[in-house]
This record gives sequence, structure tokens and C-alpha cells, in this order.
Amino acid sequence: MISNLLPAGIIATGSYVPPRVLTNLELESMVDTSDEWIRTRTGIIERRIADSDAATSDLALAAARAALESAGVDAADLDLIVIATVTPDMFFPCTASIVQQALAASRAAAFDILVGCTGFVYGLATVGSLIASGAYRCALVLGAEALSKITDWQDRGSCVLFGDAAGAVVMAPVEQGHGILSYSLGNDGSDADALKIPAGGSRMPASEETVAKRLHYLTMNGPEVFKFAVRSMTESAEVAVARAGISMKDIDVVIPHQANLRIIDAAARRLNIPYERFIRNLDRYGNTSAASIPLALDETVREGRIHSGDHILLSSFGAGLSWATMVLRW
Ligand code: ACO
Repeated sequence: MISNLLPAGIIATGSYVPPRVLTNLELESMVDTSDEWIRTRTGIIERRIADSDAATSDLALAAARAALESAGVDAADLDLIVIATVTPDMFFPCTASIVQQALAASRAAAFDILVGCTGFVYGLATVGSLIASGAYRCALVLGAEALSKITDWQDRGSCVLFGDAAGAVVMAPVEQGHGILSYSLGNDGSDADALKIPAGGSRMPASEETVAKRLHYLTMNGPEVFKFAVRSMTESAEVAVARAGISMKDIDVVIPHQANLRIIDAAARRLNIPYERFIRNLDRYGNTSAASIPLALDETVREGRIHSGDHILLSSFGAGLSWATMVLRW
């Protein structure tokens, strides 16, 4: 599929979460749920919620600035900005275009990736190939979501799960043998209805009726997504690790999509990678879709848990239903 010598990698990370914390206890007063149910069924304790006047680009901009500062890169030197999001500021222009303007990254091309929770890893794979081809040298890749804006706050089955956040990385050519080693991207459209926003697109344009029926909010078949998640994370990790020419025991850090602690637990058991190598922060942020992996990666880097030469496994699943798993050597 791809060479295992792609000399494109992540040279810096950044992230941002809004200050407003929404706890499980507060949710108890909003829908028929309990702190106990949410903790035991998901592992989530609290999540962050963006201000009512904040959009995804505002979160993305803060994360982008943090990553650029950490890289010591000037926005004017960026060739490309890619944002993975299912909550763009609007249909178009793309959110990356809005961030480009705010950063004054005047040389940068800009586009969004809309795949769902897997979008950030799709973005890394896409941009990694563009850098490896020699087309671009310095790129910003983000996962940014204001999921609170598409959450149905009357649906207890989904509203307890999500939060708002943004994560960013700066990508550039790296030393041979480092950076992206392999990936496994895939999709099974037969289960596309399990996770979607039914209205507001060309199939069901916005109307008074669609708004009244609450069809502009995210809908989800939780148990269906759960089964897919465990299966796809496990299988795609096996594929990506084999393609990288290493074995599971060589993986130093796993950064899984932060959707449900039980999904991470099940994947860890099946992959036979020691549990302490799995990064978990969903207790504090919930599921932040495309932002979840770059946010967890940034926290892990800042905690000093990733060292040069470490093998990092990023593994995600989401709408599509899609999967995206990648092996990097730091
Ligand atoms: N509080 C209390 N009870 C609840 C709640 C709640 N918040 N939500 C559901 N229940 C009830 C249900 O009504 C059901 O009751 P019943 O048995 O009387 O019918 C019972 O709890 C069990 O419901 P299930 O849906 O079977 O519960 P499950 O154990 O599967 O957990 C969950 C549900 C947490 C949603 C789980 O299925 C899950 O995490 N799925 C994966 C979701 C996911 O990862 N989505 C990722 C994509 S999101 C994105 O792309 C933006």
C-alpha cells in the first residue's frame, strides 16, 4: 500500500479546550441519566463545552497557535492547513480557510476533511503523502470540533458522550526511519446509518419540518457503533503494525479514539498490548470526535511520555462507518 520509508512526520503538537466544564452531575438535571450510569457505561466524568458564540474555527485557531509556537514555525511559512471536522463553521468556505485568514498564513493552501472521528488520522495520511511527494514542506493538520452545537440535548443516549476541543500538529519532512511508517484506512458504508446527521444536506434540505423533528442533530445507534469500533480498531491495528514491519510488543504508546473506556479496554485485551500503554483522557473530555486523538497526543507529548524512537499507534473509528489507524516512529 505505502512505503514504510515515508519521511514525513509530526514535529510539534498543540491543543485547546474551552474553559466551561459540564459535569455528569449537571447532566442529571438536563436529561434522565445519572453520574453512575455515565461513568460505568462510558468512563466519562466531565466534558468541555464551547461558548454559545464560539465556532469550531475559534477552537482550531487556539490549537494551531499552540502547535506553531511549540514548533517555532511562523504561520507565514505554512504551505498547507488541513482541518478534520464534522462541525465546520458553515458548509463553505471550509473551516481551514477561516483559520488560514486568522493566522495570516497567506502562502498556505487550505481544505477540510469530513470523515468523522477518523478525520484527523485521514488528514495525517493525506498530508504525509503530500509532504513525501515533495509538493509541500510544512503543514498544519488539525482535528477540531464543536460537537455541542450538533448534540441533541434531549437525547440521553448521545448527549452524555460528547465534548468540544481542538488539537493540532505541525508536519514536515523528518529523518529517514522516523515519522509515518504505515497506516490502514477503511470504510464500511453498509452501516452508514448508524451514525449521522439526517437533515441539512442535499438529501434532506433544512425546512421547518426538519427542524421541528430535530433532524439536524447527531443520531447514533450506540451498540452497533460499539461492536464496529472494537472490531475495526483491532483489525486495522494488526494491519498497520504488520505493514510497519514491527510487532505489537514494539508499540510504546497507543492513542486510541476517546469514545468509550469499555471500547478501549476491549481493544487492549484483543491486541495484547499492556494496558498502561493506552492513553486515556476521555474521563475529562468525553468524545471530541476528530479532536480526540490530537488532543490526547498533545497532552501525552507535554507530559514527556513520548521519546525519540518510540513507536506510536493512533487508532480511530467513526462515521462512515470508517476506521483509520497509523503507526509513527517519533
Ligand atoms: N443514562 C441512563 N440510561 C441510558 C442512557 C443514559 N445517558 N443512555 C441510554 N440509556 C439506557 C438505554 O435506554 C437502555 O435502556 P433499556 O435497556 O431500558 O432500553 C440502557 O441504558 C442500555 O442502552 P444501550 O444503548 O444498550 O447501552 P450501551 O451499554 O450500549 O451504552 C453507549 C451506550 C455508551 C452509547 C455505547 O453503546 C457506546 O459507547 N457506543 C459507541 C458510541 C461511539 O463510540 N460513538 C462514536 C462515534 S461519535 C462521532 O462520530 C461524533
